Amino acid sequence: MYCAYSEDFFSDRARRSIQIRPARAEDAAMIIEAINQVAAEKRYLTMEHFEATVEQEQAYIANLAYNGDLFLVALHENKIIGTLTALRAKGTYRSHVAEFGLSLLAQYRDSGIGSKLITILLRWCKAAGIEKLNLEVFHDNSRAIALYQKMGFRTEGIRKRQIKIDNRYIDLIQMTLFITEGN
Ligand SMILES: CC(C)(COP(=O)(O)OP(=O)(O)OC[C@H]1O[C@@H](n2cnc3c(N)ncnc32)[C@H](O)[C@@H]1OP(=O)(O)O)[C@@H](O)C(=O)NCCC(=O)NCCS
Repeated sequence: MYCAYSEDFFSDRARRSIQIRPARAEDAAMIIEAINQVAAEKRYLTMEHFEATVEQEQAYIANLAYNGDLFLVALHENKIIGTLTALRAKGTYRSHVAEFGLSLLAQYRDSGIGSKLITILLRWCKAAGIEKLNLEVFHDNSRAIALYQKMGFRTEGIRKRQIKIDNRYIDLIQMTLFITEGN
């Protein structure tokens, strides 16, 4: 239902040909590997490592359309280099809200791929009837915060000392974008 986002190729700032498309069940192992690489940096993600097994992830991807969620992958030379997931909140009274997260492998950052993924996400939000888009970001992730602000997100709250990594406390900034015709 939400697959108008397929096979979208573009050239990033380093002139690499990047493909963005919905995740497929067979991507599961590569997705887990990519997310685990970013998690291992211990600077950006709230998870220490990916929780699900390859089989669980395959089943989740197979049910995506049914759940009403979006899962995009970015590929370079057929290798997954980034992911974006947007999960619709459960229950009728919250079904206009979604929460998203994204990450790219280190060598693919600052090349415009994150901006492109969010642009596609906003297209999906409009088609899927999402009116409010939320995210959480570490207070010291200045690149991600700059990107979200550029895309129109504003701070809605701050969860102080919500994360503790190796005895370092991190505040979680909650950011929100209200989806309108203009964005
Ligand atoms: C956050 C992330 C998804 C952004 O994607 P990206 O492709 O690197 O972002 P883009 O290149 O599209 O845009 C980044 C913008 O921030 C700017 N920027 C980069 N570093 C910055 C900094 N330290 N301070 C302020 N702005 C910064 C860039 O100039 C760019 O702005 P521009 O498009 O106006 O030039 C990516 O860097 C990433 O995966 N980081 C590690 C994981 C992560 O942080 N995930 C998000 C968790 S909430």
